[in-house]
Amino acid sequence: MIKEIEISDYRNISGLVLKPVPQINVIYGQNAQGKTNLLEAIWLFTGGHSFRGAKDNELIAFGKTTFEMNMKFFSQEREQCAKINMTNGRRNVTINEIEKQSASSLVGVFCAVVFSPEHLSLVKEGPANRRNFIDGSLCQSKPAYAKLLMRYNRTLSQRNILLKEIAKHSELRDTLEIWDEKLASYGVSIVKERFSYLDMLQPAVEEIYHGISSEKEHFSLQYDSSFLKEGQREDIQACFLEKLKSSRKSDLMFGYTTAGPHRDDISFYIDKVPARAFGSQGQQRSVALALKLAESRVMESITGDKPVMLLDDVMSELDENRQDYILNHLKDQQVFITCCDPNTIHQLKQGALFKIQQGRLTEQTVLEA
Ligand SMILES: Nc1ncnc2c1ncn2[C@@H]1O[C@H](COP(=O)(O)OP(=O)(O)OP(=O)(O)O)[C@@H](O)[C@H]1O
Ligand SMILES: [Mg+2]
Repeated sequence: MIKEIEISDYRNISGLVLKPVPQINVIYGQNAQGKTNLLEAIWLFTGGHSFRGAKDNELIAFGKTTFEMNMKFFSQEREQCAKINMTNGRRNVTINEIEKQSASSLVGVFCAVVFSPEHLSLVKEGPANRRNFIDGSLCQSKPAYAKLLMRYNRTLSQRNILLKEIAKHSELRDTLEIWDEKLASYGVSIVKERFSYLDMLQPAVEEIYHGISSEKEHFSLQYDSSFLKEGQREDIQACFLEKLKSSRKSDLMFGYTTAGPHRDDISFYIDKVPARAFGSQGQQRSVALALKLAESRVMESITGDKPVMLLDDVMSELDENRQDYILNHLKDQQVFITCCDPNTIHQLKQGALFKIQQGRLTEQTVLEA
């Protein structure tokens, strides 16, 4: 939970101090005033990169050479503070007055879940978005998973290099087996972690989606493996090795590994119909939101801390019932929610409203229950 955040020279935010309440904090203002910038700044304290895909040096205010942010927060059962400053193209991080080697030291110290309109790609676009969703969430709540994923990806790119080399030097073909073994041993751990994550996520998304749709629609999901049969959870390593062997010919032809956890996908269904192809805008948005709300619930069960929710522009395209459910669902955790018109959140009974204009907070109202 954030107690206070101070930001200077971050995008259009030249100087701002925000003292949020522990419940819902509404950040409102006209277009291009800095609402998303503020959420993005908070998100950087998770140790991740901008959720808008921005490069680090794009985050510094025009005409400046550095930005600085300080945050006081409560997590892991104690008060903590962290500082991020960006100098010479590098993000420097200090946690509780101790300088850290890299920004990723923040991972697991401060946890948040973000939903922004870009996250609709989770439902609408290709499988990489869905893999990144589970992998990102697992990395935040289990730092060991990040290491595992890194090892898998490194092995994968080495195998891919080798596949291309074999075209020129066929004698290298014998070494492929060593990489297959290595890839399969990391791959099996990744798939097992994803399965156990989805086992926790699935019931939570189902319940939340049911609630968002006023109990009218049912959500379900399915992990689509590139090498396991539907529902299969046994002998994962053997199956992966078998698949690597049987697709060796095409792997050599394409010059990359055509099957493995890096090619897996997850399908989402509303009333048993694929949400990607048939869902309405509001339904697709509800799915993405339900996934994010469920992610926060699962993260809490793994880390013991309720993550901070950052909801950028969630209310548009949702009808009143769906909006109402979301606000009610978020009562007992700290939330930052942006909108242009605070009247869209008129159901809000307890929380605070902050008006942002040209990167500055100009009005503040606290609603007491
Ligand atoms: N590095 C930067 N330095 C200065 N200003 C920047 C920088 N990057 C972006 N901006 C400006 O920040 C402004 C506000 O951006 P932001 O995305 O936060 O708006 P918003 O309040 O979320 O608006 P909307 O309601 O349209 O989503 C933009 O007009 C943009 O030009
Ligand atoms: Mg915005």
